[in-house]
Amino acid sequence: MTTPRTLGTPLSPSATRVMLLGSGELGKEVIISLQRLGVETIAVDRYPNAPGHQVAHRAHVIDMTDGAALAALIERERPHLAIPEIEAIATDTLAELEAAGTITCIPTARAAQLTMNREGIRRLAAEELGLAASPYRFASSLAELEAACAAVGFPCVVKPVMSSSGKGQSKLDSAADVRAAWDHAAAGGRVDAGRVIAEGFIDFDYEITLLTVRSRSVDGDGGIVTGFCEPIGHKQVQGDYVESWQPHPMAPLALKRAHEIAAKVTDNLGGLGVFGVELFVKGDMVWFSEVSPRPHDTGMVTMATQVQSEFELHAKAVLGLPVDTALRAPGASAVIYGELDAAGIAFEGVAEALAVPGADIRLFGKPESFARRRMGVALATAGDVETARERAREAAAKVRPVAGGA
Ligand SMILES: Nc1ncnc2c1ncn2[C@@H]1O[C@H](COP(=O)(O)OP(=O)(O)OP(=O)(O)O)[C@@H](O)[C@H]1O
Ligand SMILES: [Mg+2]
Repeated sequence: MTTPRTLGTPLSPSATRVMLLGSGELGKEVIISLQRLGVETIAVDRYPNAPGHQVAHRAHVIDMTDGAALAALIERERPHLAIPEIEAIATDTLAELEAAGTITCIPTARAAQLTMNREGIRRLAAEELGLAASPYRFASSLAELEAACAAVGFPCVVKPVMSSSGKGQSKLDSAADVRAAWDHAAAGGRVDAGRVIAEGFIDFDYEITLLTVRSRSVDGDGGIVTGFCEPIGHKQVQGDYVESWQPHPMAPLALKRAHEIAAKVTDNLGGLGVFGVELFVKGDMVWFSEVSPRPHDTGMVTMATQVQSEFELHAKAVLGLPVDTALRAPGASAVIYGELDAAGIAFEGVAEALAVPGADIRLFGKPESFARRRMGVALATAGDVETARERAREAAAKVRPVAGGA
């Protein structure tokens, strides 16, 4: 189905229907933004009562890596747009349905295919587009990994080609670390446990997410324009984001290079919507790391900092509407972890968190908590980023997960 030029009324024959493939905290916010435009929303995830399920018109539980199940659900719901929120999806099925004209995949099925596997996007960025990236080699056995690490040099980072949030990732200081990294990758990889990338370690000054939006131009010529949000700085612990802030100051040349890299990769991936372009920066040098063809977890800070959050930008852009990427105020986000392994937990200290000046919180409503599961986020604005970071950290620390009551 093609994207309608007008917006309809949900639950009526005129409805504009959008399906979220993955309905975690990022999908939930995209759905809320779509709901505000009167879009009929269909949330899909692999477990019941996922965050996005709780705010959509309809909720479905399927294994999204099962192509037949995915195609059957799309056939049943007939969405105008399918928006992948996660990487672990039967993207070949999406490509077939897109080629047949059954769905429009956001931003494109090809982008979803390329970015679900580090090999696809790395080869595109470094080999086809010639973007600066860490040296890398791929390996499918321990022996190949030994050779790959020797070729890129130490220190290096080994990651399963299909994984996210730092799962299965190791930093290696010498050849003595290769076997442990191979075993760790095999345990943490998502689908093809047998293939990894070895990347030379980049000793960056800082890393950013550059949210890049492809949207239809306001002047109505139907052309696609590329907009950039202010750079988002972030702190990663074991490959998982714990804090982010915006704007992150950048030297003019580094910012120019960041924009050029992001424009090149998103032009190639095509389509409409938000992309999270991850970059490493040292002085004026900028390296491409990876790109998500969707809103980015570090971009949750934009719920506090921007005129339109990354979720609102995504919702509007995919519907063919114009967007505004302007910053409203400097701000920060700090992750609230589950801290305990239990279902139906409760949160104490929310009132105290909200008493921190400039602070706000989001609790995702995930039915089950794990110690290191992201259950919520504290947001804060301030006159400057440093104060905002302190406020966000303080607010997050005040929220205490406890076992749920009877
Ligand atoms: N080559 C590298 N040099 C230095 N640091 C790196 C390198 N690769 C990864 N890192 C660090 O590890 C973090 C996670 O890496 P990466 O983004 O590739 O993994 P991921 O599992 O896809 O994470 P996510 O899905 O959460 O973005 C990076 O943000 C960076 O801090
Ligand atoms: Mg990353």
